Amino acid sequence: NNEWIKVASLAEVPEDDVIGVMAQDRELALYNLDGEIFATDNICTHGHARLSDGFVEDGEIECPLHQGKFCIKSGKAMCEPLTEDIRTYPTKVEGNEILILIG
Ligand code: FES
Repeated sequence: NNEWIKVASLAEVPEDDVIGVMAQDRELALYNLDGEIFATDNICTHGHARLSDGFVEDGEIECPLHQGKFCIKSGKAMCEPLTEDIRTYPTKVEGNEILILIG
């Protein structure tokens, strides 16, 4: 079931920052990069840490636990100790609402 789901309002995600949201039992991280919204899974692929507790820098999210970094746009694992990319989700903005496509 491919469905666009409302997950947050635009004002909830500060620029160059990340928040955690729940959507259909999934924990997602929402990012605002220069006003553009991106989404990934929130739980790191390396261990049980939330990326929404990490740091956004230069288009990457740094995991708070072991400082692994993912590219926010592609989900690609950029450095050790990460070995697995993180899943990304299509996003769109309608009015003041952020929607995510969960396939
Ligand atoms: Fe994220 Fe180890 S849990 S880098």
